Amino acid sequence: MLGIFAAFLLPTTSAQASAPLRTHAAAKGKFIGTALATGPLGSETSYRTIAGTEFNQITAENAMKWESTEPSQGQFTFSGADQIVAFATQNNQQVHGHTLVWHQQTPGWVQGLGASAMRSAMQNHIAQVVGHYADNPAVVSWDVVNEVFDENGGWRSSFWYNTLGQSFVADAFRAARAADPDARLCINDYNVEGINAKSTAMYNLVSSLRQQGVPVDCVGLQSHLSIQYGFPSDMQRNMERFAALGVQVRVTELDVRMPTPRDSSKDTTQATYYRNVVNACLAVTACAGVTIWGFTDKHSWVPDTFPNEGFALPWDANYQQKPAYTAVHDALAGGTSGDTTPPSTPGTPTVGTVTSNSAALTWSASTDTGGSGLAGYNVYREQGATDTLLGQSSTASITLTGLSPSTQYQVYVRARDGAGNLSGNSALATFTTQDGPGGGGGCTATGTVQTQWSGGYVVQPVTVTNTGTSAITGWTVTFTLPAGHTLVGSWNATLTVSGQTVTAKNAAYNGNLAPNAGTSFGFQVSRPSGNTQTPSAYTCA
Ligand code: XIL
Repeated sequence: MLGIFAAFLLPTTSAQASAPLRTHAAAKGKFIGTALATGPLGSETSYRTIAGTEFNQITAENAMKWESTEPSQGQFTFSGADQIVAFATQNNQQVHGHTLVWHQQTPGWVQGLGASAMRSAMQNHIAQVVGHYADNPAVVSWDVVNEVFDENGGWRSSFWYNTLGQSFVADAFRAARAADPDARLCINDYNVEGINAKSTAMYNLVSSLRQQGVPVDCVGLQSHLSIQYGFPSDMQRNMERFAALGVQVRVTELDVRMPTPRDSSKDTTQATYYRNVVNACLAVTACAGVTIWGFTDKHSWVPDTFPNEGFALPWDANYQQKPAYTAVHDALAGGTSGDTTPPSTPGTPTVGTVTSNSAALTWSASTDTGGSGLAGYNVYREQGATDTLLGQSSTASITLTGLSPSTQYQVYVRARDGAGNLSGNSALATFTTQDGPGGGGGCTATGTVQTQWSGGYVVQPVTVTNTGTSAITGWTVTFTLPAGHTLVGSWNATLTVSGQTVTAKNAAYNGNLAPNAGTSFGFQVSRPSGNTQTPSAYTCA
């Protein structure tokens, strides 16, 4: 007996390449988790087997929400929640409690209460639910409040906020600490993966709560991503700024949906997103781990929630592993060293708009079969022995900036995979930049949509570059908002709006740019629900 237990408990010294996700994650000091639903957990062997062997952390997808645990006032039912905690205990997995105070999946009786009764009901609910598991070693953390911000970083106009004001957040955390002094207490939200108005509001709230001694230990980035909205490339930096506040961060509900139908190129992009998220967490010590929101497309919430999108998880509906699984596995296993196969060579670049200092290029995409997935493209200038890297793109197009006026360029593209393998060179494209304004002046601006949702988007960064030959002491960027779009916030520049024209002037601290130097600013816009437009061009002067 002792021998068996010792073999079971001893940490593995080196994770085998083909080992389950949890083995590799544990070797890196991280958890890899999944949300579980009680239905398939009770009825499907494949579901139980994968959940038990691949993951070392579990979140209840619905079973711990208020409507499940206290459907009528004072009547607590833990049958579903206990089923999940028992499964986790059997499989040596930790449990993250989700969620205590939320505006959804909360019974009508709570929503109709007056302020003092609502506050008491909230405190009692937290005391009972957290208290039920306080002595259970499997349950180690809680989402105390969920989704308290709106898309602009203001307070969400929920029944909680409208009845109790902001104070419900601090009260909820204090109640949870009182019910289980050892549990890690988190605040959780979506669209806070990158640096934007909403994540900055979260940052400011966590900072102020902690200054007041409110026990907030952890920030959850839900990470419901879609391949059509771009990857939040500053996710690691965002995690780092929260870590600097002294809190743990975690990815709590990762899924990466795609527009239907599924195809292999979308699978590859999806795998890249999964790998990027895992790598961001691995790069930040304060990131405890990554929880995937379910693991099989058979039971994902995505098709029921996002019209015409799906296939968001690493296993398909038949429990077969997808490229996203390999991406998560290889990232956790410490890289993609096994992949030595370069991507295919990209198509010849087609030249679009050329200005005095910029040129737009598109090309047909590469594919990658080596396992690590296509990571992006490098664009080089053909100059004989030492070619210059002019730019990098994660998609099959780029606008090169900072070019010299009246100059002929010959350029080619190489594709890059996640292991750093480079493809062959595409055929050359040739263009000549137009006559410059003269006098050595000039600047360019390009904007990247960092994240978007049906009612708005964040453009970050708008990169401003001094393309002239002398230093500048200020800059002005103009762009046009599509009809019906309104500016809701901005940072690192002063924005004024006239009609749909937006004028952005440098802030006091980022107007001075040496030749070739750059800076950036960002802004957030709300747009009519369902509209998918974003600004198309930025002019710098
Ligand atoms: C979702 C579940 O996946 C669905 O089964 C349920 O119908 C609705 O809630 N943010 C959260 C999660 O914090 O609780 C949500 O889960 C997904 C969005």
